[in-house]
Amino acid sequence: MKALIIEQNGEPSEVVQLRDLPEPTPGPTEVRVRMLLAPVHPSDLHVIRGRFARQRQPGLPASPGSEGVGIVDAVGSDVPPTRIGERVVLLNVPGTWREQVTSPAEQAISVPGAISDEDAAQALINPMTAWAMTMCEHQLGRGDWLVQSAAGSTVGRLVLQIAKAQGFRTINLVRREEQVAEIQDLGGDVVLCTADESWPEQLMKATGGNGIVKAIDCVAGRTGATLARQLALNGCLLVYGALSSHRQSDPAAFEMPIFAPALIYSSVEVRGWLIFSWLALKGVSESSRTLRSLLDRMADGTLKPPAARRYSVDCALEAFTAAESAAHHAKPLLVFAER
Ligand SMILES: NC(=O)c1ccc[n+]([C@@H]2O[C@H](COP(=O)([O-])OP(=O)(O)OC[C@H]3O[C@@H](n4cnc5c(N)ncnc54)[C@H](OP(=O)(O)O)[C@@H]3O)[C@@H](O)[C@H]2O)c1
Repeated sequence: MKALIIEQNGEPSEVVQLRDLPEPTPGPTEVRVRMLLAPVHPSDLHVIRGRFARQRQPGLPASPGSEGVGIVDAVGSDVPPTRIGERVVLLNVPGTWREQVTSPAEQAISVPGAISDEDAAQALINPMTAWAMTMCEHQLGRGDWLVQSAAGSTVGRLVLQIAKAQGFRTINLVRREEQVAEIQDLGGDVVLCTADESWPEQLMKATGGNGIVKAIDCVAGRTGATLARQLALNGCLLVYGALSSHRQSDPAAFEMPIFAPALIYSSVEVRGWLIFSWLALKGVSESSRTLRSLLDRMADGTLKPPAARRYSVDCALEAFTAAESAAHHAKPLLVFAER
């Protein structure tokens, strides 16, 4: 079977290799999945560079990849053979960039027929992040306000869909002026462009001068620091990404300066958020219940991952370049098999 492998950390274009490996055999409680599609997420590229959360850096050699869709093609002795042929997505099974992946049977979640392979391939990381941060952590209700940065990202667009379905309102930050109208069309109530130097004042005005009650940020750096500084009394900012530090080598680029008086006098909370920590906290049965409910929402059309673009595994380097290029519009998906 073909597998994308890294033997050392480094630039994806230099260290990711396509290899032929022996077919894996599922253990007694496992299934083997013939992978169809797996996305290239920013975090996958961090893993390749050796810059991701220490607990998620695999021992090398390893295949990158954090989710994907495929077909069960073999089962262990304790798993019903009726599962063979089932289309599944993998719940927290790292190493998906290969033609065959073994997974605990309970972490291979059946996909409703109405969902396309492209949508199923990206059902976990970004939809679960958008859902967990807005509905479970911030517990946003009808009429509440959420501030989010990088609103044009996959996560940001999913947050807008959840906002529409659940009735909360959004103040959105984008970095390109041309995205303002696009995010408004997707239902963003207020959209501000960070290229306009007055965006912090516009943001404070949009909160009615009261400051931010609930926010999520995946840019960090000066953008995250500005959001933190504008938090209202007891406000909460979840920092779930640091896009401003991507591909940076200057240590200062990784800093997010916090204005201490605002932190203290407003008793605000600035907290990091990582899906893998959340999944570990919830355990497999609650996480799989949440994933199934997101798949149901995808099947009934209330949640739809943004556009995707397929790349053959032989052209994986093009997918890596696309994943990090500005205004890339589509989530790159690696194709391991056609149906
Ligand atoms: N903590 C977690 O568990 C978790 C889970 C999922 C995702 N994430 C993080 O969430 C972020 C978004 O992921 P994604 O898959 O949704 O990304 P994506 O679809 O690739 O979109 C990236 C978006 O970020 C914008 N962007 C890139 N660099 C930026 C910068 N320096 N300043 C402001 N905006 C910038 C891009 O704007 P343009 O359109 O202008 O290029 C684009 O809209 C990533 O940092 C990812 O690692 C974290």
